[in-house]
Amino acid sequence: MTSDPSGTVALAFSGGLDTTVCVPLLKEEYGYDDVIGVTVDVGQPEKEFDEAAETAEALGLDHFVVDAKEEFADLCLQSVKANGTYQGYPLGTALARPVIANAILEVAEEEGCSALAHGCTGKGNDQLRFEAVWRTSDMDVIAPVRELGLTREWESEYAAEKGLPVEGGDGGRWSIDTNLWSRSVEGSELEDPAHVPGEEIYDWTQAPGSAETETLELTFEEGDVVALDGEELGAVELIEELNERAGAHGVGRSDIMEDRMLGLKVRENYEHPAATVLLNAHEALESLVLTQEERSFKQGIDQRWAEKGYEGLVDAPLTKDLEAFIEQTQTKVTGTVTVKLDGGQARPVGRDSEYAVYSESAASFNEEAVTDDIEQEDATGVAKYHGFQSRLANRVAENVAAKKAGKATDGGVVSEANGTSSEHGSDGGVASDDEK
Ligand code: ARG
Repeated sequence: MTSDPSGTVALAFSGGLDTTVCVPLLKEEYGYDDVIGVTVDVGQPEKEFDEAAETAEALGLDHFVVDAKEEFADLCLQSVKANGTYQGYPLGTALARPVIANAILEVAEEEGCSALAHGCTGKGNDQLRFEAVWRTSDMDVIAPVRELGLTREWESEYAAEKGLPVEGGDGGRWSIDTNLWSRSVEGSELEDPAHVPGEEIYDWTQAPGSAETETLELTFEEGDVVALDGEELGAVELIEELNERAGAHGVGRSDIMEDRMLGLKVRENYEHPAATVLLNAHEALESLVLTQEERSFKQGIDQRWAEKGYEGLVDAPLTKDLEAFIEQTQTKVTGTVTVKLDGGQARPVGRDSEYAVYSESAASFNEEAVTDDIEQEDATGVAKYHGFQSRLANRVAENVAAKKAGKATDGGVVSEANGTSSEHGSDGGVASDDEK
């Protein structure tokens, strides 16, 4: 609770139970004169905005809606350059939070608010992601649900007592978070990691196998997707269209155990058709144009980027440092990828780039030479050396083990001759001193 609450507080408002009960609580319990509700559009379904607007009206809440879809879509495509996944699923909620938090902060500044509030509990990631952004300002940050230790049950009773406009029951079986990039479903029976979910939890994806196989072509320029099947599309339209098309094939379902920032392990289900298509296609193009060492080094960079993304720290200095490397690698990620949509999969089946680090004649089984001045037999020396140090190390270890075993069985007498003669015998290609 703040020491001197006064003025107006800007509340991250979705119209759900948590944020609805926050409205009277911010006045009654915290003493604020006024509350404004801010809903940020990152691609939620229309009906969520209708519900938020209706609830706000019934509450007499001054309600602002901010469209941040473009900004969010750009961040999603930035995550593609980083092959951005956390524990195997594309980052969705995590990337949306800083965008939402920034949009609310802007409204709060324009409206002269003295505080910012969210309805997150003290168990999840979102409280951390929101506050990481909000604490860049001087405004007070308030988290009523966390600070007052509210449970859903208490909230429902309180809402009923106050006649607050919330849906009957628990307002839905699962807790669902939807944006352009992903739809997450958690709670209820899904909390049991052993429970096998039915088709009813999915909304964006059809059961795999329900549509005829199709292919699509994506055009990349320096890591950015610029066209789908040759047609230029903005980021938002691209993602929306791919969600539709790939969703029909059941592409992009994840059912995982996720480690939250505070250490809690939770069972999460996600749908992310467009993200899966774009991530798979992008990686396919990188595999064509980046060198082996760039690919392997970039995996570590990508992983760190995704961790920062998961933490909601897309503005951290480290994130920017990692992006400098990622951007440099993307200067070659230009070309096209053909993706086949089929049976829950988005499989890259063709790739083409002027930056391809690939020589068909060099790799071909039908060409004798590798290049004009490299013959196949030039590999003989390389093949002789390959694994040299490992063979040597294993041999040494065997000899030491043999000596120790000899000591144990011969009562401590080890024959020097035995030791050296075996080195000269089949030594697995490890030269002894006089052969150097
Ligand atoms: N566990 C994910 C994250 O922290 C998504 C949570 C989405 N929330 C929900 N109510 N389904 O990024």
